[in-house]
Amino acid sequence: MNFNLSKQQEMVRKVVREFVEKEVRPIAAEVDETERFPKENVEKMARYKMLGVSIPKAYGGAGGDDLSYAITVEELSKACGTTGVICSAHTSLACWPIYKFGTEDQKQKYLVPLAKGEKLGAFGLTEANAGTDAGSQQTTAVLDGEDYIINGTKIFITNGNQADIYVIFAMTDKSKGVKGISTFIIERNTPGFSIGKVEKKMGIKGSATTELVFENVRIPKENLLGKIGEGFKIAMQTLDGGRIGIAAQALGIAQGAIDETARYLKERQQFGRPIGQFQALQFNIADMVTKVEAARLLVYQAASAKAEGKKYSHLAAMAKLYASETAMEVTTKAVQMHGGYGYTKDYPVERMMRDAKITEIYEGTSEVQRMVIAANALK
Ligand code: CAA
Repeated sequence: MNFNLSKQQEMVRKVVREFVEKEVRPIAAEVDETERFPKENVEKMARYKMLGVSIPKAYGGAGGDDLSYAITVEELSKACGTTGVICSAHTSLACWPIYKFGTEDQKQKYLVPLAKGEKLGAFGLTEANAGTDAGSQQTTAVLDGEDYIINGTKIFITNGNQADIYVIFAMTDKSKGVKGISTFIIERNTPGFSIGKVEKKMGIKGSATTELVFENVRIPKENLLGKIGEGFKIAMQTLDGGRIGIAAQALGIAQGAIDETARYLKERQQFGRPIGQFQALQFNIADMVTKVEAARLLVYQAASAKAEGKKYSHLAAMAKLYASETAMEVTTKAVQMHGGYGYTKDYPVERMMRDAKITEIYEGTSEVQRMVIAANALK
C-alpha cells in the first residue's frame, strides 16, 4: 500500500483542518456541555462539500475517494467526536447504500440532496432485541397494494431526530430469517413515523441518538432499496464501510488527545522543569504516538482497499477494532498525564476519553469486529 497522499487528499486534509480550527474546535466544549446538535456547523459542512466527500459529483457529492472521506472524519474528530460521527453516519450509512443499491430515480430523489448536504441521513437497523444479533429484526414491512406498511421501533439511531431521509431495515418474510429482511427509504414527514426517546449519553453528546417509531407507516413500493430479502446483506455491506468511518473517528479522537498532551507536557512545570522532560511521560507518549500511527495505517489501508474495489470487510473490522481500542487507551493515558487538570473540563481530554468509548461499541462492538476478523482468518 502506498500512503503518499495525492494532491487531492492533501487538499481535503488542509481544507477540513482549516474548517475545524475556525468552526469546530471553538464550539466543541459547549456542544458537549449543552448536549446540542451543532446544526450551524452541519450546514457549513454542506457548503464545504463535506457531507458527500466520497459520492460522485454527478450525484451531488465532492467526487473524492474513500481515503479522502476517512481523512475528513479523522480531522473533524480531532477536535469534536460529535461532528465526526454526524458526518460518518450520514455519509457511510445513508448516502452510500443509496448510491450502491439505489435505482436511478432513488439516487436523483434521495442521494443528490443528501450528498449536497441539503438533507441529512440516518440508518435504522438496531432494535431493542436486535443489537449484535442484527438479523433478529422485529420491525415488519407488509405489502398492501402498491405500498408497504411499516411497524416497529428502532433504537440508538445516530442523527435520529435531525435527519430527513432514513435507510431502515424490516422483516418482509419472517419465515426466511435473515433472508427475509429488506431495506427501505423513509422520509421524515411520512405519517405514522415519529421520534421516540432521545438518549442521554456518556460522550458524543451533541450527536442526536434517538428511537425511531413506525406506526402503520405507509410508503410506496418504489422505496424498497435493493432487492426484496437482501436487506441483511445490504446492512452488512453498509456497515463494512461505516466501520471505516468510525475507525477514522477513533483515530481522530486519539490524535487530538495526543496533540493536547504533547502541548501540556511542554507547558506544565513540576520540580523546576517541563514534565515532558521526565522519561516516564516520554515513554508514555512514545507508545501513544506509535499506536496511533499503526491505527492510521490500518484505517488508510481499509479505506484504500474499498476505493480500489478490493475485499475490505475484514480490513475495516481490523481498523475499527484497533483504532477504537487505541483511542480508549490513548485518551485514558492523556487524562492521567494531565493529572488533576485532566479530570476537569478545563482541558478537552476528559471529553475525548468519554467520546472515545463509543467507538468500541457502535457499528459493531469490538467483539463483533473480532468475530468478523476471525471468520475471515479461519475460512
Ligand atoms: N457482506 C456481505 N454479506 C455478508 C456480510 C458482509 N460483510 N456479512 C455477512 N454477510 C452475509 C453472509 O454471507 C450470510 O449470507 P449467506 O447465508 O448467503 O452466506 C448472511 O449475511 C448471514 O451471515 P452470518 O450468518 O454471518 O450472520 P449472523 O447473523 O451470524 O451475524 C454478525 C453476524 C457479524 C454478528 C452481524 O450480525 C453483525 O455485524 N452484527 C453487528 C451489527 C452492527 O454492527 N450493528 C450496528 C448498527 S448501526 C449503529 O451502530 C447505529 C448508528 O447509527 C451509528
